[in-house]
Amino acid sequence: MERLRGSDPISLPEEFASGLAVTRDRLGIFAQQILWYSEVGSTNDLAGAMADRNAAEGLVVLADRQTAGRGRLGRTWASPSGAGIYASVVLRPSVTVATLLTIAAGVAVAEGIASATGLSPHVKWPNDVHVGGRKLAGILAEGAVGHVVLGIGINVQSAAYPPDVAARATSIEAELSCPVDRGVVLAECLAALASRYRELQSGRGGQVVDAWRRRAAPMLGRRVEWESAGTYQVGLAENIDDDGALIVKVGGQTQKIRSGEVRWL
Ligand code: BTN
Repeated sequence: MERLRGSDPISLPEEFASGLAVTRDRLGIFAQQILWYSEVGSTNDLAGAMADRNAAEGLVVLADRQTAGRGRLGRTWASPSGAGIYASVVLRPSVTVATLLTIAAGVAVAEGIASATGLSPHVKWPNDVHVGGRKLAGILAEGAVGHVVLGIGINVQSAAYPPDVAARATSIEAELSCPVDRGVVLAECLAALASRYRELQSGRGGQVVDAWRRRAAPMLGRRVEWESAGTYQVGLAENIDDDGALIVKVGGQTQKIRSGEVRWL
């Protein structure tokens, strides 16, 4: 537990405070409590520990740098100071809302980046955010009894990711060739997430799925490889179903992938 605590939260730096202040009316549940740390192990671990101790839904944990940032499927998420956005939010969704939460998060981060920068990011199932075929942002959803922590990592500068993934990754500043305000990007992502989360809560999950399909359009119809029961399979990614599972066509048959890794060929 000591490892999780890190330092005490400090005041939001100006870069974040002003972007979040301007967007405050649209932040919904994320306007209530935003904690900033100069360094933590993982914002997901810290937010999860706070959720276990009854943190309210909507808590946002931000860090300038993570020493043990984590990605999906046990991977490391490089998190150097100032180069990325490292954020985790605590949600307490119903079982129905939780089904589409990772899909909604991918859509919201793509929308937030689009609003803040003018880029047109795509989503790759389940919730990677790409520009020009390279990964710009990722989301790590971790559930426990009574809560889900959504961790959002966005590459703002190319220094955010290690050279060995440079061929597959990009950053907002590399795409725009100019500096961007991390506070504005984060604020737009949180505002979009608040809005998509409200849609799920009010039974409008169909709108989230439709938005995901639009953002995924360039990826659909492409060949994908995934592992199932110890063997690798290849098929065509067709769509997602109403619960967010990826529908793939293998030969003449349709299969659904609900979790795990899919490699886009
Ligand atoms: C992925 O593998 O694509 C998901 C990456 C998620 C990274 C974010 S950064 C903030 C939060 N804290 C973590 O340790 N991971 C997530």
